[in-house]
Amino acid sequence: MKFGILSDIHGNLEALEVVLKEIKKEDCNEIIFLGDIVGYGANPNECIELLRQERIVGVAGNHDYAVLNKTSIENFNPYAKEAILWTKEVLTKESLWYLDAFLLINKSYPFHIVHSSPDDPTDWYYLFTIEDIIPQFNFFSYPVCLVGHTHIPFVVAKKKDGKIEVIKKNKFELNPDWQYIINVGSVGQPRDQNPKASFAIYDTKTNIFEIRRIDYDIKTAAEKIIRANLPPILAERLFYGQ
Ligand SMILES: [Fe+2]
Repeated sequence: MKFGILSDIHGNLEALEVVLKEIKKEDCNEIIFLGDIVGYGANPNECIELLRQERIVGVAGNHDYAVLNKTSIENFNPYAKEAILWTKEVLTKESLWYLDAFLLINKSYPFHIVHSSPDDPTDWYYLFTIEDIIPQFNFFSYPVCLVGHTHIPFVVAKKKDGKIEVIKKNKFELNPDWQYIINVGSVGQPRDQNPKASFAIYDTKTNIFEIRRIDYDIKTAAEKIIRANLPPILAERLFYGQ
């Protein structure tokens, strides 16, 4: 099976359209989403509609849960909070129904998927450092665990002897005897100083995994954020991948 994997779209329609077009060229059997359709960007309804049309399923993120009042926005930064309040205002009831169907855990795939961390998907813990990541290998049994949430792609492997290796390549063959935790990066708001949209292609037959980056129309996405009266920093940061 060949999977296209998306995370952290955040209402960025321009990025989502380009990524979906690219994934379609790959003839994927299924497209999986790792959470955060909404928040920050100006097109949450349009992004939800596109996921619905393409029958993309997966798990919910903290921003999706926030607009449904399923998680508190107390710890969100002021810009994220403002964007959640704006998103709640503009979401249609159909969009809310769609978001409500996403759960935090989905065991329909031959790999583990979660938005934040496998130890407790409800606490929205961020896996930034290798110290954050290593203990997480104790909380899933599949060979691969896919995450989003930090908007920063990474690949960390645990070898058969327990040793940890950080994989620096964007495209690599998975070792069937190792376990992996992979962050696929963010479609709509990358934060690794690379403004290109990030997504992944995972072929479970060949065992080849690729994190791919692609240009999209950042200017249009940013202008929409300004026109929607969302915090201007949410537009500016797209140009820098921050
Ligand atoms: Fe996110």
